[in-house]
Amino acid sequence: MPQHPDNLFDLSGRNALVTGAGSGLGRGIAEGYARYGAKVAVVDIDEEAARAIARGISDAGGHAVAIACDVADSSSVTAAVNEAASQLGDIDILLNNAGIGKRSKAEEMSDEYWDLVLDINLKGAFRFCREVGVRMIERGRGGRIINMASVTALVGIDTGNANYAASKGGLVAMTRCLAVEWAPHNILVNAIAPSHTRTPLIEKLMAEKPETRTYFLNNIPLGRLGTVGDIVGPAVFLASDAASFITGHTLLVDGGHTAK
Ligand SMILES: NC(=O)c1ccc[n+]([C@@H]2O[C@H](COP(=O)([O-])OP(=O)(O)OC[C@H]3O[C@@H](n4cnc5c(N)ncnc54)[C@H](O)[C@@H]3O)[C@@H](O)[C@H]2O)c1
Repeated sequence: MPQHPDNLFDLSGRNALVTGAGSGLGRGIAEGYARYGAKVAVVDIDEEAARAIARGISDAGGHAVAIACDVADSSSVTAAVNEAASQLGDIDILLNNAGIGKRSKAEEMSDEYWDLVLDINLKGAFRFCREVGVRMIERGRGGRIINMASVTALVGIDTGNANYAASKGGLVAMTRCLAVEWAPHNILVNAIAPSHTRTPLIEKLMAEKPETRTYFLNNIPLGRLGTVGDIVGPAVFLASDAASFITGHTLLVDGGHTAK
């Protein structure tokens, strides 16, 4: 039975941890979860940014704590999950969003760029899944895990992103695997795959290479880039009672990009 039968999207009484929540999509999702009633751990490598977002959520009447963490460091991840648990209580919703891009033509890509992107985007998410998953299993009340993938898991793009695409493809595969492995514990594991979405990451790229904007727009049948707001609803949905029989799914939020 849903916990909130009158409002399937109500997240009150739940604790959420969002990584990379100091900027862009993670910030929007952390704020969205708080608006829907969850208590939120705002986790980011940029401590000041995390503090500012958590303060903004609290000023708006929500409940948030800021936690500094580098997802590329297993001991930092363990410490962050311990801190979130001690400040908020057990984590019900984990949203793995922290991610970077290090672009290079494939034929020139260094091992360093490859390893860095895979370590943050894919292994960073796994580190959090492992740390939070073990606690969800011990607690025995299920949970939700949502991994921020990308359309690049499914379609090729021409912006020097082989490392990034591999990390996102890995996230989609890991999502399916964990969904099956942890289904007996009622831990639902899903992914979101956005297309090009206006965030500081993408704004920076378009500022450096203005022709990228046209390339991105041409990929999207709806004729516009995504907004942070476009991703918040799907993230709330997958965390909520409205998605209680969905697991192992990758939800495309792409303006039709992959429908072409
Ligand atoms: N913007 C897009 O078009 C788009 C499309 C598809 C997927 N995504 C994915 O969405 C996620 C968020 O992207 P965004 O566009 O909001 O980027 P962003 O750069 O605005 O935000 C990323 C956040 O992650 C944090 N971060 C980076 N490395 C970290 C680390 N090692 N440990 C902890 N935090 C770290 C940054 O400090 C930043 O606050 C990424 O995983 C990205 O790959 C973005």
